Amino acid sequence: MSAVPVTGADVGRVDVRSVSIDVGPANERFTALDRLDFTIEPGEFVCVLGPSGCGKSTLLGAMAGHVALTRGEIAVDGEPVDGPHRNRGLVFQQHTLFPWKRVIDNVAFGLKMNGLCLAERHREARELLALVGLQGFESRYPVQLSGGMQQRVEIARTLINRPHVLLMDEPFGALDAQTRRMMQRLLLDIWTRMRTTVLFVTHDIDEALFLADRILVLSHRPARIVADIAVPLARPRDDESTVAAGFIDIKRRCLALLREAA
Ligand SMILES: Nc1ncnc2c1ncn2[C@@H]1O[C@H](COP(=O)(O)OP(=O)(O)OP(=O)(O)O)[C@@H](O)[C@H]1O
Ligand SMILES: [Mg+2]
Repeated sequence: MSAVPVTGADVGRVDVRSVSIDVGPANERFTALDRLDFTIEPGEFVCVLGPSGCGKSTLLGAMAGHVALTRGEIAVDGEPVDGPHRNRGLVFQQHTLFPWKRVIDNVAFGLKMNGLCLAERHREARELLALVGLQGFESRYPVQLSGGMQQRVEIARTLINRPHVLLMDEPFGALDAQTRRMMQRLLLDIWTRMRTTVLFVTHDIDEALFLADRILVLSHRPARIVADIAVPLARPRDDESTVAAGFIDIKRRCLALLREAA
């Protein structure tokens, strides 16, 4: 695929073409991802489900530009990915905040553009903290926040670069069920406002169904796409959505696929 100039229509578009990734040391090398092929349209919310260890984080790492492809190509905004870029933001389950920096400075630290003075960086950081519902917490230190609040700071720190694609690797995996649902709602609220493309990895079928427009199911390694399932449930979704007949049908299908995949 040749590099094409980014046009409005390409912003937030993801093209994964015949991507294979081999990992491990030379004598124990194996194929983690095997010829993955898919496209994500701008503004789509796609969840990735798959058995433990199948290569979900490897896929996200490749999209972020941290993991090299063995074969194939990934393009974001119509341009091949060849390293990290602020048009792609990555949020993990583990916290990566600096404990010695205040919340506002943690968020401002994420800014990857040069030439902004401290006051401007703080103004941007305050705006993003408000977006994730943390106004008033700017001067706290991470240790003074709950797990869910820390995860909101992580999200604000990533969104401060206005990424075209938001990559999330089980970001709510460590949270209790109630906080997790609150974070899912918050994420959908942010997504509705920003319309960033989201690729969200999870183990949790309910979470995928609650969030996604589409679910990609990966097989056990070497991971291949075994299903690409549309989730045509109305939005905004709430707890009632999760007991709707359409929801249960897709859930059954995902459960069966994951059982086979494992
Ligand atoms: N750099 C590496 N060196 C060796 N093995 C690796 C490397 N990166 C990943 N692997 C292996 O590749 C496979 C896929 O790993 P990955 O972390 O992508 O899986 P995952 O689907 O995210 O797993 P989980 O559900 O546990 O988060 C695993 O078997 C892992 O041990
Ligand atoms: Mg993982």
